[in-house]
Amino acid sequence: MTPKLLEGKLGIVFGVASNRSIAWAIAQAWRDAGAKLAFTYQGERIKENVEGLVASFGKDTPLYPCDVTRDEDIAAVFANVQRDFGKLHLVLHSLAFAPREALEDEFINTSREAFRLAHDVSAYSLVALTRGAAPLMTEGGSIMALSFYGSEKVVPHYNVMGVAKASLEASVRYLAFDLGKKNIRVNAISAGPVNTLAARGISGFTKMMRIYPEAAPLKRNIELRELGDTATFLASEMSSGITGEIMYVDAGYNIMAMNVAPFEKATQ
Ligand SMILES: NC(=O)c1ccc[n+]([C@@H]2O[C@H](COP(=O)([O-])OP(=O)(O)OC[C@H]3O[C@@H](n4cnc5c(N)ncnc54)[C@H](O)[C@@H]3O)[C@@H](O)[C@H]2O)c1
Repeated sequence: MTPKLLEGKLGIVFGVASNRSIAWAIAQAWRDAGAKLAFTYQGERIKENVEGLVASFGKDTPLYPCDVTRDEDIAAVFANVQRDFGKLHLVLHSLAFAPREALEDEFINTSREAFRLAHDVSAYSLVALTRGAAPLMTEGGSIMALSFYGSEKVVPHYNVMGVAKASLEASVRYLAFDLGKKNIRVNAISAGPVNTLAARGISGFTKMMRIYPEAAPLKRNIELRELGDTATFLASEMSSGITGEIMYVDAGYNIMAMNVAPFEKATQ
């Protein structure tokens, strides 16, 4: 029997809030590919829900609290990983936050505090988590984050989150440069819209889910399974030559210069 792609790999997953979370889909794919995983949860409010989900991975699956705005939480997580696993190969960063009002109003009205918080949670956290994980990646590793096209082009209401995703994507490249010499790869998956808790906070999100299939070459939205598959590829030796990349899993939406549905309907 051929060994599974991630057999023997130890990983940690940040960003499971519900069974709709992208992190949950990726964790299941990594588990199915043979990885052993630890999880974190943001706070008491979602603890019970995440505990319930993680229990399905087996009773000995580590679960640690981690609010990524707290340095002491991050330090404790990696001390626990050291104790429980001894080393690490994979990190999934699948988290973001911006205050709801910053995703409803116009970008020009973004407050200093909303800008700071969005960047702290959604971009700086990748730097802090990578710094915590790298010393444990003694056999090399693969770190990945989730991004969105709003980092590059204007998406109505995505506002400060788009600016934070641009910072996240630039951080991916700088971290990839720093860690390449240790054979630790850092990449991001830029996902098409998926109906999750975080996505529902973006005003107009349902409209976006309708527009993507009209404009995307594949004429549909993506499935969570496809994010799991790509994340498994990026976690595995199959992608050993890839680092610092932003990989689109968006049914091709980003290659189009315009939505061709109204273009084709127009008579002149
Ligand atoms: N859903 C989409 O359409 C979509 C598209 C592209 C990219 N993404 C990105 O995917 C990632 C996961 O989002 P999702 O859509 O699965 O939503 P989700 O709500 O399931 O996940 C967001 C996660 O962020 C965590 N989080 C927020 N603030 C935190 C903090 N201070 N400390 C620790 N964790 C914190 C939440 O607990 C939650 O687990 C995010 O980076 C998001 O921007 C989502």
